[in-house]
Amino acid sequence: MKVLVTGGAGYIGSHMVRTLGEKGYDIVVYDNLSTGHKDSVLYGKLVIADLADADRLDRLFRTENFDAVIHFAAHIVVDESVREPIKYYRNNFVNALNLIEICVKNNVNKFIFSSTAAVYGIPEKVTVTEDTPARPINPYGASKFMVEQVLKDISLSSDLRYVALRYFNVAGADPLSRIGQKYREATHLITVSLRAALGKREHLDIFGTDYDTPDGTCIRDYIHVDDLIDAHILALDYLSEGNGSRVFNCGYGHGYSVREVVDKVKKVTGVDFKVRETGRREGDPPSLIADSSRIKKELGWKPSHDDLEYIIKTAWEWEKKLHQAGKPAS
Ligand code: UFG
Repeated sequence: MKVLVTGGAGYIGSHMVRTLGEKGYDIVVYDNLSTGHKDSVLYGKLVIADLADADRLDRLFRTENFDAVIHFAAHIVVDESVREPIKYYRNNFVNALNLIEICVKNNVNKFIFSSTAAVYGIPEKVTVTEDTPARPINPYGASKFMVEQVLKDISLSSDLRYVALRYFNVAGADPLSRIGQKYREATHLITVSLRAALGKREHLDIFGTDYDTPDGTCIRDYIHVDDLIDAHILALDYLSEGNGSRVFNCGYGHGYSVREVVDKVKKVTGVDFKVRETGRREGDPPSLIADSSRIKKELGWKPSHDDLEYIIKTAWEWEKKLHQAGKPAS
């Protein structure tokens, strides 16, 4: 089976490529290396090009006979999306629309889309199912939800079938530390905490301690990247068996507060780094937890790493290796 992986040189995409490669899939990675890295691509052929380059994509689809597309390439920083909405709508929405159009034109009818829990905005209930209304509160979540809408409509008017996976808080790294998060300007809680533990940052800021949660800090559903990758493999099998389009949440169904994560990072690393309590970050829902019963029931997804300590340990091993090798490159 030949699979196109857009964004396959990035954090989650590179874990996908690793697993597809280990399973013997024929892989083409399409990545402009804006945040991805050549050496994160462990298998397959890497095409360095931009998704905005429709001619390049078109040529690629005419020369390679793809059976499926897994679309990761996107901008992902929520507060940047508020400051630079056009950048997000152009890359996350317009480029995805072009890609989907090229798939339809070339009869590539299996499409897996990286969506996000950010589509839910600030939900009325903490635990969300796929039927919880999507009410994104920032351009990042909105741009992802718009792609879901496009996929839904196009799947009704063509042979294209898709699975949209709504990721919760993805963290952790390859257990052999071959790949992991490489962003220089990391914003995610676990990575930022680990860099504070390594002394690469002076402190960690806790954004808000007055939320209506047991310890006043936000609660999130942290999922190990490898469990998320398993969900993609199951989604690929599901579409290959001829099943219809579907949206699935990907999370463990329980969460940890920012303080709990920070305490666990201190325990795993053995470093009592400095923590400052600061004001709320705009657009943060107090709590966001996945109800993932649908993917468990319909795809048989069984997470293997539902363990915050394991998530942090794998990320810590990776982070140490990355910083020994030099600074994160982008
Ligand atoms: N946080 C801090 N200090 C930091 C970084 C984060 O206190 O230095 C807090 C945040 O305020 C939030 C929690 O830690 O309460 C988690 O923040 P992250 O930035 O790690 O992750 P988010 O929950 O903001 O974002 C993630 C994904 C998004 C997705 C979103 C859905 O990165 O792509 O979940 O909620 F849209």
